[in-house]
Amino acid sequence: MKVYTEKNTISNAVEALKSKGLSVGMVPTMGALHEGHLQLVIRALKENDTVVVSIFVNPTQFDNKTDLDKYPRTLEKDVELLKTVSNHTIIVYAPTVDDIYEGNTVSQSFDFDGLEFEMEGKFRHGHFDGVGTIVKRFFEIIKPNKAYFGEKDFQQLQIIKKLVEKHQLPVVIVGCKIHRETNGLAMSSRNTRLKPEYLEAAPFIYKTLKIAKTKFGTKSAGKVSEWVDNQFATHDLLELEYFLIADASTLKPVKRKSNKKTYRAFIAVYAGEIRLIDNIALN
Ligand code: PAF
Repeated sequence: MKVYTEKNTISNAVEALKSKGLSVGMVPTMGALHEGHLQLVIRALKENDTVVVSIFVNPTQFDNKTDLDKYPRTLEKDVELLKTVSNHTIIVYAPTVDDIYEGNTVSQSFDFDGLEFEMEGKFRHGHFDGVGTIVKRFFEIIKPNKAYFGEKDFQQLQIIKKLVEKHQLPVVIVGCKIHRETNGLAMSSRNTRLKPEYLEAAPFIYKTLKIAKTKFGTKSAGKVSEWVDNQFATHDLLELEYFLIADASTLKPVKRKSNKKTYRAFIAVYAGEIRLIDNIALN
């Protein structure tokens, strides 16, 4: 498996493949790969001749230095895991911060038509400018035909679709279903940092989302939110940061339910020091 660390060399390599008429998919990641990432890669391999997996912990999307420093970095293990999927049709791009930012590690400013101000945007200052900056840069370097993102970061997925639309980037964005552990916990690289008692407690998040979904069939968004708040208020280990029911396309909180709209519930929870997010389609 080829592992590139420089944008010029990977860009030339991908260009050479495309000039032979081969299609290129991309799965951007921050590494610490798990089964959820592999499912994105498998889907991308079904739909493209070659798949570029980027592995890069992007500093500009972190508003918390400790979180950035502690983010797991496991390149060798990640490459071995990718080899179990395919050795020849996957290319890894694992750049250094300098290769990407060329000595100026700052974000570009984006206007995502308000999507960036909801939920994660309120709690993680500058996060989506950082995501927009790196994803746009990846698309400029790799020029993939299609790129694959998980719905666990549903807001990020909507924002990347907006980025592509507004900047007229020639790439198709494919959203992929959340991959879960058998106990319902959404797969995340952060799960590896959970202490055992938190790992045991964390499936409560999805369990609560599923009940919230049922309640939303007969109750208002406000009542469901109140119920969720109460569930976490009495929980010993998990601390709710937000729970919100929003319109799935605008991400604006629901005021009055309409059966013409699609809704989703979003949640962010602290399990000790580790922040976990999840979401569920409601209708
Ligand atoms: O979802 C992630 O892992 C990151 O936000 C992404 C899209 C790779 C950008 O750094």
